[in-house]
Amino acid sequence: MLSWLIVIGTCLLIVLIFFIFNIFDTASNRKKLPPFYSGWIPWLGCALEFGKNPLRFINLMGHKLGPVYTLKVAGERMTFLTDAKDFHNFFQSTDVDFQKAVQSSVQKIASVTEEAFFKNHTKIHDTVKGRLSFHKLPPFCETLHSKFKEHLVGIKNQITIKNGCEFEAELNDLVRSTMYKSIMDNLFGDGVLPTHDEAAFKEFEKNFLIFDEQFEYAARLPKIFLREWTKSKNWLLQMFTRVTKQCMQTIPADVESRSLLQTLIAVIDDDFSPNWSMMMLWASLANAIPITFWTLCMIYQHQRVLEKVQSEVRQVLKENEKCDESTLALMPYTRQCILEAIRLRSPGIFTRRVIKEFRVKGYNIPVGDLLMVSPFWAHRNSQQFPDPEEFKPERWENIEKNSFPESFIAFGGGRYQCPGRWFALLEMHIYVSLFVSLFDCKLLNGVPDLCELHLVGTQQPVQKCPVVLSLAK
Ligand code: HEM
Repeated sequence: MLSWLIVIGTCLLIVLIFFIFNIFDTASNRKKLPPFYSGWIPWLGCALEFGKNPLRFINLMGHKLGPVYTLKVAGERMTFLTDAKDFHNFFQSTDVDFQKAVQSSVQKIASVTEEAFFKNHTKIHDTVKGRLSFHKLPPFCETLHSKFKEHLVGIKNQITIKNGCEFEAELNDLVRSTMYKSIMDNLFGDGVLPTHDEAAFKEFEKNFLIFDEQFEYAARLPKIFLREWTKSKNWLLQMFTRVTKQCMQTIPADVESRSLLQTLIAVIDDDFSPNWSMMMLWASLANAIPITFWTLCMIYQHQRVLEKVQSEVRQVLKENEKCDESTLALMPYTRQCILEAIRLRSPGIFTRRVIKEFRVKGYNIPVGDLLMVSPFWAHRNSQQFPDPEEFKPERWENIEKNSFPESFIAFGGGRYQCPGRWFALLEMHIYVSLFVSLFDCKLLNGVPDLCELHLVGTQQPVQKCPVVLSLAK
């Protein structure tokens, strides 16, 4: 009898202890965490699904788990916010940090040590922001225009030689080769990078494309999987080591006449100038050039839009030999087309590191999580962008010239928002208007599909985009 009482008493005691601890835990200790992706062997299942099609997977999880959810991918906890009402907090909160989110990627991709990163990053960001600020752009109008024109007239001459008939090309290659050279000359100094010699340019282009294509994987995978990428990165670093050395000796005293590259290396006081310059080159080419390609695809694919752009640009550019701010202001519809293409091809994600517990929608996001927002999916929210998959440039009517609506987050936000955004819009505006004014263009297979394998940056096309070009009538 006594032994029975001891057994029952012990059981009651255990239940009581559980009860007390559970109450205690719920009341004061347990934090409310966001839903976590779970499935068959959760982390493995998640990594596999994520790897297969990351862009679709993050959207699917949002529908399944709600506006705040967490994935664990390759050992990293990523918490996604999908409600536009939380974006302001994401960009402005002091509980999350841009630099701590990107530092290790910059180290893996560009070999900038942790110490050098924190010493120079803010200084570099502010320098680029100052040099490419809205008010500093007018001188770029003329130089970009003349470089783009030089390269596009080169294409026009090839068509004329062929009797004014037709010229077959791959649109993405064509945009890239004509824009790369112009942007490199404008930002890094005329001929400072290999833009004047065709063979040297081709070698540069080959290495840059490999560097760009595997950029995102390089931030995550060990070097052993990235042999080709590492070779191209080293090629680019060697090029920049030569270039920055020469550049250092020729920096003009007059600050205003310095190129962006000269401005940049003048503020870096350690040995990492080639590494930062390589990152700067990547940032200036990796997003704006694909968007220019998509803009042209979408314009030429939509007859009604095309006619509107054609009548705008052909009229304005016929009457104005030179291109300045006032000329661009006369082509607002072309700018609307560019904004619409950016909306539809925005970066998959950007990120911040949680440095102090971050509260959102009643959840507590722990320190160390990467907090993620997807502009690509945010721009497909039908409440803010009705018929989100449609290419409708008219939705950007009445947008102020030097600001964006809050729902448009392609360039990030907060302290470290893209410092090249105004330059990007300017170069695309000039290029697209010149292109449409010079050429008629038939897309032989329509607009290519977008590649869903990358989350960093704007999307690339999956298929080639063969076109037939002819001189504008
Ligand atoms: C359509 C074109 C472009 C898009 C969509 C884009 C988007 C972005 C985004 C989303 C970020 C990160 C911001 C954040 O997390 O809040 C960024 C950073 C940056 N962008 Fe852009 N960008 C574009 C063009 C350019 C151009 C043309 C340049 C330079 C000429 C440039 C220079 C930079 C630099 C230097 C950073 C890094 C800032 C830092 O580390 O502090 N971008 N860009």
